[in-house]
Amino acid sequence: MSEPVAVILAAGQGTRMRSKRAKVLHPLCGQPMLRLVLDAVRRAGAARVIVVVGHQADQVRQAVARDDVEFAVQEQQLGTGHAVAQAKAVLDGYEGPLLVACGDTPLLKPETLAELIARHRRAQAAATVLSASVADPTGYGRIVRERGTGRLLRIVEHKDATPEEATIREINTGTYCFDAASLFAALEKIRPDNAQGEYYLPDAVGVLVREGATVEVVQAADPVEVMGINDRLELARAEAVVRRRIVDGWMRAGVTVMDPDTVYIDPQAQIGPDTIIWPFTFILGTSAVGEDCRIGPHSQVESSVIGPGSVVERSVVRQSRLGPACTVGPFAYLRPGTVLEEGAKAGSFVEIKQSIIGPGSKVPHLAYVGDAELGRDVNVGAGAITCNYDGVNKYRTVIEDGAFIGSNANLVAPVRIGARAYIGAGSTVSRDVSPDALALERAEQHEIPGWANRRRRKSSPQEAR
Ligand code: UD1
Ligand code: CA
Repeated sequence: MSEPVAVILAAGQGTRMRSKRAKVLHPLCGQPMLRLVLDAVRRAGAARVIVVVGHQADQVRQAVARDDVEFAVQEQQLGTGHAVAQAKAVLDGYEGPLLVACGDTPLLKPETLAELIARHRRAQAAATVLSASVADPTGYGRIVRERGTGRLLRIVEHKDATPEEATIREINTGTYCFDAASLFAALEKIRPDNAQGEYYLPDAVGVLVREGATVEVVQAADPVEVMGINDRLELARAEAVVRRRIVDGWMRAGVTVMDPDTVYIDPQAQIGPDTIIWPFTFILGTSAVGEDCRIGPHSQVESSVIGPGSVVERSVVRQSRLGPACTVGPFAYLRPGTVLEEGAKAGSFVEIKQSIIGPGSKVPHLAYVGDAELGRDVNVGAGAITCNYDGVNKYRTVIEDGAFIGSNANLVAPVRIGARAYIGAGSTVSRDVSPDALALERAEQHEIPGWANRRRRKSSPQEAR
């Protein structure tokens, strides 16, 4: 039995999106919707996938370039029937089942497509249409069945439907399995004599019915799956479905998600079991969160590794790497290139970028650490800052094991603080500090006895004591 070949229609502009970007490139949970369709047809068993491109062809090609697909070009968008016909040359005489799907129905599940292909094969049909019964059929093609027998007669587009046909709630999902040879023969017989002046692919189904070929209809069990995305409202609804599917998958895999409706997890992200995701949290890109972590509430982790047992609370973590048992936040901002080694802490109102914070080292509050390398068990006091930038160049700060940086210190890079050294609070340090030393850079403190009292007496004599 030959593996089916799939054709995905992605040449249209998607006028109703009112967008500069081709519709099929609009992302759902971070992936162009076309890629979701592609995944589904592949997982349904398609050996080859041909994408029909046209509007913004280069961008569409680029978006799926690494997905091992072939392309057919539809120069002018003359309709879905015309679009499929463009794949004929690429198919090069292929005979067998041809799965046709639209690039704008990204919620289709592989199981549904596999069932469509299986039913098509069993019936040895010329065409098998995937339909669905929906509450609101507005905009979709309707499945017109023969009274009495229930046999499919044809598919009528919303814009061409009579008022009676418009009441039909069984719709064409735009997904079909065809016998390739029968399809291309039928496509030669369709005409653009309809409301939109287009070559409709569903008309090929009508041609096959009229010619007495075997045409089947398979109803999708879940109407949500077959939803076509035509405007931004539908895009938002589909996004919610995809998002929820991903979150549900992680809950099944052992992750606790306290409020699934407010949690966003990108498809490539990974999360270990027994991790708890608190509300309003985003785990994006290629993030890998270990087990037994607590992420959130109100946190964003982007393309970062979070070691097991770590806590990220009300913070943003971008392209950073956290070892096990780290603590971040509340209100920390870890920028790209931050590494927290085991047990390290980045506390409240701390910003770190391009820096390594060694094992057990702590930056608990109100500090900026940039282009720095901290050894183990370093303590950085509140308000301490690495002055890494002179307006032209960036310089590195090295703080060796066990050093103690007093509050509000400025470390003017390049500078090295030796192991176990102390930096006095408020010091601006611009020369290297030896191990075990105390570096203090402060004007000496003066005291003028009774000064305050004298001042008060001068400004308001009656209040003075
Ligand atoms: C289509 C079906 C309709 C079905 C609905 C399901 C037709 C005529 N109608 O309508 O019966 O209920 O899908 O969602 O097929 N495309 C091209 N080239 C073109 C035109 C379209 O590649 O010349 C692509 C589009 O990029 C899109 C897909 O085909 O991915 C569907 O086109 P769209 O215009 O959205 O069709 P609908 O009006 O939704
Ligand atoms: Ca559509």
